[in-house]
Amino acid sequence: MFLFTFFLCLITLKKTLGSYVNISSIYSGDGAKSTLASNVINGHDAFEGEFPFMAQIYYLDRQRNFRFKCGGSLIGDKHILTAAHCLYKDFSGKSMIPLEDMRIVVGKNERMSKKNNYKTYSVKDVNKFGYPENRAADFAIIALSANVPEEEATSIQIFGGEIQNTIPVQVLGFGSLNSDGSMPSSFLKVASVDISNSTNCSAKTIHWKNNDGMLICQESRGKNESNDSCNGDSGGPLITEYKNKYYLVGTVIIGAKKKETQKNVCGKDIVGYYARVGYYLDHIAEITEIPKTSLIL
Ligand SMILES: *[C@@H]1O[C@H](CO)[C@@H](O)[C@H](O)[C@H]1NC(C)=O
Ligand SMILES: *[C@@H]1O[C@H](CO)[C@@H](O)[C@H](O)[C@H]1NC(C)=O
Ligand SMILES: *[C@@H]1O[C@H](CO)[C@@H](O)[C@H](O)[C@H]1NC(C)=O
Ligand SMILES: *[C@@H]1O[C@H](CO)[C@@H](O)[C@H](O)[C@H]1NC(C)=O
Ligand SMILES: *[C@@H]1O[C@H](CO)[C@@H](O)[C@H](O)[C@H]1NC(C)=O
Repeated sequence: MFLFTFFLCLITLKKTLGSYVNISSIYSGDGAKSTLASNVINGHDAFEGEFPFMAQIYYLDRQRNFRFKCGGSLIGDKHILTAAHCLYKDFSGKSMIPLEDMRIVVGKNERMSKKNNYKTYSVKDVNKFGYPENRAADFAIIALSANVPEEEATSIQIFGGEIQNTIPVQVLGFGSLNSDGSMPSSFLKVASVDISNSTNCSAKTIHWKNNDGMLICQESRGKNESNDSCNGDSGGPLITEYKNKYYLVGTVIIGAKKKETQKNVCGKDIVGYYARVGYYLDHIAEITEIPKTSLIL
């Protein structure tokens, strides 16, 4: 088991980015959006075929049942972009899920169940960018073992432009209907959220300076639940619409309460961080062998 895990680490660490950055201060507590607990806050159900690039990441647990892990986005016809922490059993980043235990569903609005018996894809390889040593580089590319036919799902292009606060963005995710996560919703949710470059974003991590770096900040200012991403949405897409087409802006990573004294509740006065997908563009082009001009808007 140890050897197998070690081997996985070797192949996945072959691409590393930049120097060590430390955002572990925001990883304390329950801010991680990796475990299934609740839904895209205040969202509505996606329409059939509205987001054909949406991916679902599952792993086989000890009882060999498929467990929902994270969201993702289809790029080209065989690569999924997601968060690197989605490749790990838990947020400690100690133990990766063996690639052979991972399964991916693409282009569906409903979560996989025994009833719908969706086609799943195995994973051939993963690339990540320095995670977990570099917690800010929480971004990964999954290579599927087979191409996804166009009639099943279609890919999304990357938003390569500057991230302004005024860009209208939406976050997509699968989640539960109640806050303790015991009643999972089987439908994909979508909610509009606000990109922020307020000082509240820099207060939570030294690795966010503005939205031109690795991380994009989203802020929920409401005392009551406002639109937000939440646990279980990790890896899923933050998108923007332009001329009736969606473009991928970010991938969900983590949320952080603004004040030590407050609780970490999604949608209630917290900041959220997303990997800026445009930051990884050169690496995505290299790994997927898709020309940059086809990858971006
Ligand atoms: C990273 O930040 C955490 C929390 O602030 C701190 O405990 C830790 O020592 C830091 N690590 C490094 C390598 O600076
Ligand atoms: C919350 O998201 C929903 C669904 O996208 C949207 O209709 C609504 O306007 C959003 N609310 C705010 C305050 O952004
Ligand atoms: C936020 O962005 C605007 C425009 O890009 C800029 O003028 C402002 O200084 C930024 N604020 C912070 C806190 O970075
Ligand atoms: C930071 O968050 C607080 C609490 O929600 C809010 O009152 C304040 O306006 C925010 N700061 C900025 C610069 O947006
Ligand atoms: C927040 O919710 C409470 C209880 O539902 C309500 O009384 C209050 O008016 C709400 N506050 C805002 C700012 O919406």
